Amino acid sequence: MPRPIIIDTDPGTDDAVAILLALAAPEVEVMGLVAVAGNLPLAMTERNARSVLELAGRPEIPVYAGCPRPMSPGLVAAVHVHGEGGLGQLELPPPRAVLARGHGVDFLIETLREAAPRSVKVCVLGPLTNIATALVKAPEIAGRMAELVVMGGASYALGNTTPAAEFNMHADPFAAALVFDSSAPITMIPLDLTHQVLSTPERIERVRALGNRCGEAAAMLMEPPPARRGRGRRPTYALHDPCVIAYLLAPELFEGGEVNVAIETQSPLTLGMTVVDWRGISGRRPNARVMTRIDADGFYTLLTERLAGLP
Ligand code: RIB
Ligand code: CA
Repeated sequence: MPRPIIIDTDPGTDDAVAILLALAAPEVEVMGLVAVAGNLPLAMTERNARSVLELAGRPEIPVYAGCPRPMSPGLVAAVHVHGEGGLGQLELPPPRAVLARGHGVDFLIETLREAAPRSVKVCVLGPLTNIATALVKAPEIAGRMAELVVMGGASYALGNTTPAAEFNMHADPFAAALVFDSSAPITMIPLDLTHQVLSTPERIERVRALGNRCGEAAAMLMEPPPARRGRGRRPTYALHDPCVIAYLLAPELFEGGEVNVAIETQSPLTLGMTVVDWRGISGRRPNARVMTRIDADGFYTLLTERLAGLP
């Protein structure tokens, strides 16, 4: 019986690969995508989400627009990483499927209220604005999720948006702090782990050699951003968001532990930093499972094999 999942996302190149991986997995049933402002403005992330579903031949899956801006001041974007269109070198035709009616936050709440308790897993691939807003509106959903798997943060790794903070956490630190204080069953996939899954030219070529349109598209999405090229060393790109889906499909590839994670929301210097208390010094209760290691070759074997099953 496939596990129902909801993907909250800001596509974004790595988000798009994560969505393709989920669509290629019979173990999960994608109940809907909820777009959020993050890598790009909401109008682009929701359009890209619809376009990726169409590319994979799954236009019937609903895409909802969530929050157009973070709870916290200021909206950062990552056009330099994902390109003007948000999908790197990949250009997809405008989607024919229309945006689902209703707000994405209400879709999250209603789906979790109507589903059997702890049956639905929620995957967050962008800033935590939507899930935080849903928790404000309906706090009880924290206890109704089977798991909340979040790509974001850093443990021992430095930030990728500031020296201290990873993009998804930095883009909406107040939302992140609210979610990590909510008692939702969080699994965090931080940069420490995602930086272990670099899309090298060999790995990209194996995906491109699949010969299907989704393999060709994924290979383009896996290419390092232009800003990373020409720096001498061989450019690579960490496939952050697909790690969330891979964790659902093959948890045996991952290692981590229960720990307290707190989010910096005050200091301009470290705004959005995830403070991971591995030694229990703070006395704060563990509130997340933080994954720190992945079998990178096993990840790419899984990704490549699964993408082969798409159109
Ligand atoms: O820091 C990486 C995360 O920020 C990924 O989710 C990427 O898509 C961006 O949203
Ligand atoms: Ca993302």
